[in-house]
Amino acid sequence: MSKNLPDKHIIGTLKQLSTPWLIALERAHRVKKMNIDEGFILDLACGSGIQLAAYSSQLNMPCIGIELDPERAVVSKNTLDGILNQDINSKSKIITGNCLKKDEINLENNIHFSLIHLDPARPTDIQAHTISEMEPNPIDALEIWKNELIKNRGGIILDLSPRLSKEQCIELKDELKRILPDYKQTWEWSSQGRGRVDRLSVWLGSVAGENTKSRYVRNHPKELQKSIVIESEQLPWENETLPLENTNVEVGETLSIVDPALISSGLENAWLNSKNSEGRWIRKSGRRPLFIQSKKLIEDGENYSLISESGIIRSIIEHNIDHGVEPLIEIGKKFELKKLTLRLKISPELQPNLQSKLDRNLIDFGGVGFVVELPNNKLAICTKI
Ligand SMILES: C[S@@+](CC[C@H](N)C(=O)[O-])C[C@H]1O[C@@H](n2cnc3c(N)ncnc32)[C@H](O)[C@@H]1O
Repeated sequence: MSKNLPDKHIIGTLKQLSTPWLIALERAHRVKKMNIDEGFILDLACGSGIQLAAYSSQLNMPCIGIELDPERAVVSKNTLDGILNQDINSKSKIITGNCLKKDEINLENNIHFSLIHLDPARPTDIQAHTISEMEPNPIDALEIWKNELIKNRGGIILDLSPRLSKEQCIELKDELKRILPDYKQTWEWSSQGRGRVDRLSVWLGSVAGENTKSRYVRNHPKELQKSIVIESEQLPWENETLPLENTNVEVGETLSIVDPALISSGLENAWLNSKNSEGRWIRKSGRRPLFIQSKKLIEDGENYSLISESGIIRSIIEHNIDHGVEPLIEIGKKFELKKLTLRLKISPELQPNLQSKLDRNLIDFGGVGFVVELPNNKLAICTKI
């Protein structure tokens, strides 16, 4: 991250807990497009204050942050001072206190909130990622504060552990429905593109989509507007999960390696529909989910895509990569390739040697391709399209 980003004063454990500035800003941009009502923004457990400042600066609305830890509250105040303009900052404040003890939180009487944000702390030493581990407990906190939202038009964004199980998500969805029966919910999975879901959040009320029950966001590493957003009218667990039918492939078919975080979020079919594409999945698990296209996948934003590789299968061979790359050199030369990238699981000690041997032995000018391991353990050699 650049030294000039406004979260540079946030260090240590708080840095690990806090939402990265560009991610916070990307979310605030999307909230801004929703034209929510004028009011204050409230963060019930504001930590570094970075997400709160991102909303407040982008929506041009004052904010209030509550933080249990006095040192973090000071950092939060510095964050607001560094990001907000003077007018908004003068109306905003950070309160050191426990959001579960509302009576102890001093607010002026006429303050109403257009947006409540809550990103509860999750103890790092506990791995179950259950609702009861979150601090503050999100259901208790929202139940206490929900009436402070602008009547019937408020929005809530609740950050959750991306490792909540399907059962835990369903339990939380039902609990949220119980305490906020009139609030629509949009469940959002987002990834910064390292192959895993980095964030899970629920957007409720005025920030939930009219007919959007779930959403996958692949954040662009630098340019916020280029983040990819896939939406669905269904929740992932409402789709029937059928076993993969035909995992065999043939030479001549078009194969793509797809973002594994899209699969983890369960929105892969919504993505295919949005691309008007057809085909079959031959693998949905692991780091390299594979899709065989029968109708061409048109990707907009050519340089940023949920597909990491796409190519036509030229050859399928039975070969253990641990035994070397000689057969791949032969095939690479036959198809006049100057580069053949190994996209399969290889031990880290072996990988660089095998790749450089391949690179050295192919021709100097020609096409480019990649090699993947198929579900039947055979290798597919593909030329890029
Ligand atoms: C995950 S952090 C929030 C990070 C924040 N979104 C950011 O971008 O920096 C959760 C915070 O909740 C605070 N917290 C825990 N229980 C609380 C409570 N009952 N009331 C207020 N804050 C609380 C913790 O001290 C911690 O700083």
